[in-house]
Amino acid sequence: MDSQWRISRDSQRGVRPRKAVASALPTLFAVLLCAAPWGSASAEAEESDSCVECHSDSDLMVTNKKLYDYFLRWGDSIHMQEGVSCHDCHGGNPGISDKKGAHDGSLGGDEATSAVNFRNIPDTCGECHDDIFEGFRKSEHFEQVSSEENEEQQAPTCVTCHGAINVAAPDVTTVEEICQQCHNEDSDNQPENPRKARALLNRLLSIHRYYRYITVRGDPVEMKPFFARIDAQISDLTVTWHSFDLETIEEETETVLKELKAKRGEVATAYKKDRKQRSERPD
Ligand code: HEC
Ligand code: HEC
Ligand code: HEC
Ligand code: HEC
Ligand code: HEC
Repeated sequence: MDSQWRISRDSQRGVRPRKAVASALPTLFAVLLCAAPWGSASAEAEESDSCVECHSDSDLMVTNKKLYDYFLRWGDSIHMQEGVSCHDCHGGNPGISDKKGAHDGSLGGDEATSAVNFRNIPDTCGECHDDIFEGFRKSEHFEQVSSEENEEQQAPTCVTCHGAINVAAPDVTTVEEICQQCHNEDSDNQPENPRKARALLNRLLSIHRYYRYITVRGDPVEMKPFFARIDAQISDLTVTWHSFDLETIEEETETVLKELKAKRGEVATAYKKDRKQRSERPD
């Protein structure tokens, strides 16, 4: 897999890593869907992706609807927008156009060696989301996912919480539902976790609210060092989330929130003062 894909902390909130094919893909996608004649010449010049070419064949809608739906859902995803294609997760060879050649290597989830097999999913997603993977490796969840004894696969991997094809971060409501699948009164496995996770995610949303306020009202040049520091802290917090050490998540959340609150106060005062001065200035 391409090393320039690594989304480490430094690049996470700055310029995002992209492959050359990334910006071309939406065009290719549109061309494939509507077969617009004006697009085909430029599409030919792009790097070919036999997975998408073949899996977008509209005949599949009739012959293998379920398979076609995977393509459709990927077509709606942030990964598609960012140029992350089928082979980035499934392996295989996108440069070969016949099915057998392209599928070389195991691609489905059932085989133990497949990149999308339950046990291998954290590694596969972690190729790009490397900081988050580091956090996840520290969790009891990861230990359970890796354990040979866990034949029933009663532990969450990345796709349990984010989905596989059209990924999304859980929101306050879905996070509670996801945790409840395993943490509930029946399982007697820490049934308080879902409620705690919901409350913590709510605090994270407060962080985003304060952050936005400062972005809108603050002086962009003056705020630069502040944002550099806070961005790193927020990225660290996402990594900590994946260790699922709820106490540490809470501590880190409150620390960031405190800093943002203080800065928000400063920015609000400066903004009011500035407005007052403007209104008092003679024409
Ligand atoms: C020429 C057509 C063609 C190409 C090229 C192709 N596929 Fe497929 N793929 C299919 C068809 C048809 C199926 C349905 C199962 C079958 O017929 O083998 C399938 C099945 C799959 C499955 C499901 C496997 C399973 O075990 O259920 C995955 C995953 C997959 N393809 C991924 C890929 C990836 C990744 C690439 C590119 C590296 C790719 N395909 C290239 C036609 C293609
Ligand atoms: C971000 C990674 C990622 C991308 C991109 C991706 N997939 Fe997948 N896909 C997965 C994972 C992980 C699974 C296993 C899902 C699970 O265990 O619930 C999967 C499962 C599947 C399956 C079902 C296979 C099975 O064994 O049940 C098919 C079919 C499939 N993907 C096709 C595609 C096609 C076609 C594309 C491109 C249009 C694609 N995927 C893009 C990660 C990805
Ligand atoms: C080839 C690189 C690559 C792989 C492999 C990959 N991703 Fe991503 N992913 C990206 C990029 C690039 C983005 C967009 C930038 C960002 O938000 O960090 C992204 C974004 C995301 C997001 C954020 C979605 C949002 O709404 O903001 C989630 C969640 C995610 N990926 C989960 C996964 C999961 C789960 C897997 C494995 C099944 C996976 N990724 C595999 C590159 C990858
Ligand atoms: C697919 C099942 C599953 C899901 C979904 C799940 N967990 Fe877990 N979780 C487990 C298992 C299994 C353990 C290990 C329990 C044990 O060691 O007895 C665990 C352990 C934990 C622990 C204890 C860690 C420790 O070091 O003691 C916390 C905290 C936790 N989970 C939080 C969460 C949160 C928050 C969510 C939702 C975002 C969640 N879990 C979703 C299965 C799950
Ligand atoms: C038990 C549930 C759970 C598991 C397992 C999990 N995550 Fe997450 N993930 C979350 C939650 C909750 C958030 C939101 C918290 C945050 O953004 O800090 C999140 C946030 C993210 C984000 C940031 C999304 C954004 O909008 O910026 C990415 C990317 C991501 N996870 C990828 C992964 C990858 C890769 C794995 C596997 C190595 C994984 N997650 C495993 C629950 C989970």
